Amino acid sequence: MFAVYAESFSNDDPLSGLVLGERPDPVAPDGWATVTVKAASLNHHDIWSLRGVGLREESLPMILGCDAAGVDEDGNEVVVHAVISDPSWSGDETFDPKRSLLSERHQGTFADKVIVPRRNLVPKPASMSFSEAACLPTAWLTAYRMLFTQGQLKPGETVLVQGAGGGVATALITLARAAGLRVLATSRDEEKRARALEIGAHEVFESGARLPVKVDAVMETVGRATWSHSIRALRPGGRIVISGTTSGPQLDDAELTRIFFLQLSVIGSTMGTRDELDGLVKFLDATGTRPLLDREIPLTDARTGFEAMESGDVFGKIVFTA
Ligand SMILES: NC(=O)c1ccc[n+]([C@@H]2O[C@H](COP(=O)([O-])OP(=O)(O)OC[C@H]3O[C@@H](n4cnc5c(N)ncnc54)[C@H](OP(=O)(O)O)[C@@H]3O)[C@@H](O)[C@H]2O)c1
Repeated sequence: MFAVYAESFSNDDPLSGLVLGERPDPVAPDGWATVTVKAASLNHHDIWSLRGVGLREESLPMILGCDAAGVDEDGNEVVVHAVISDPSWSGDETFDPKRSLLSERHQGTFADKVIVPRRNLVPKPASMSFSEAACLPTAWLTAYRMLFTQGQLKPGETVLVQGAGGGVATALITLARAAGLRVLATSRDEEKRARALEIGAHEVFESGARLPVKVDAVMETVGRATWSHSIRALRPGGRIVISGTTSGPQLDDAELTRIFFLQLSVIGSTMGTRDELDGLVKFLDATGTRPLLDREIPLTDARTGFEAMESGDVFGKIVFTA
């Protein structure tokens, strides 16, 4: 079958190890399903994989891609949950120490077909296109868990989203607005700030700018560059939910004094469960809210999508179609 895969790693030139070509058809073991992929979306994770982060040399060649929507062997339209937990694990899959993401240990979704445990299939509503559904399993699921599970945000509360242009950040803005929250967002880029207003932010600010109000919660994926601003933006008793550190994990000032004196909560968040993905799909179906697609590209032209993501020239999700 046709597939987009990593053949080697390079930290300086990650795309040098990217190959578009033929790989063997997968064979589903007992309890697993074969999904014919209709659409798959690109994440920063795929660039990290080409750099050799989260992927071992002996796992190569590895088909990339965490996210997919497609059709199972019985003709059901499905969204694929990307977190593969150990068969012995029960409960919240994100707590399983043996879990992996598709394309880390098991072959990924940038292919004609992908196999996953049957439990990882979530029904796709007819109202949602395959391309829209393919955006959900990583960036959108991460945003959903950050806001509603880890952040415990309620309608009417105020949330700050840092780094508005990112895949997770655009999902955070859209979902928060649809759930009745007041949404503030920052970006370094004027055009991205304007786009953030279009997708649901009530107010936008330059990164690091003084805000007119203190917020109930901050959603962090930027890390080092925005951490201090995030802590300073919180009301007493507020919470910061962090799922990524795009600008780096090392801090000059962790703002520890403010954290204890204002009794702030710092909460980590990683991906989401199969049931949260099901909840996200139903939430979008009920509200009519949809992921923002930056562009749709045939899988056979996937390299142009990787180039766009590497250069940072993206607002919303890049989707590869069958
Ligand atoms: N824990 C999880 O389960 C999980 C899941 C998905 C992603 N992640 C992580 O979350 C992070 C975001 O992922 P993504 O796919 O949304 O990435 P992305 O699309 O590349 O977005 C990153 C955003 O960070 C902002 N940024 C980067 N450097 C900055 C700097 N120096 N100063 C201020 N802002 C900066 C940019 O915002 P502006 O250009 O708008 O300023 C950019 O749009 C990544 O680190 C990723 O690994 C974690």
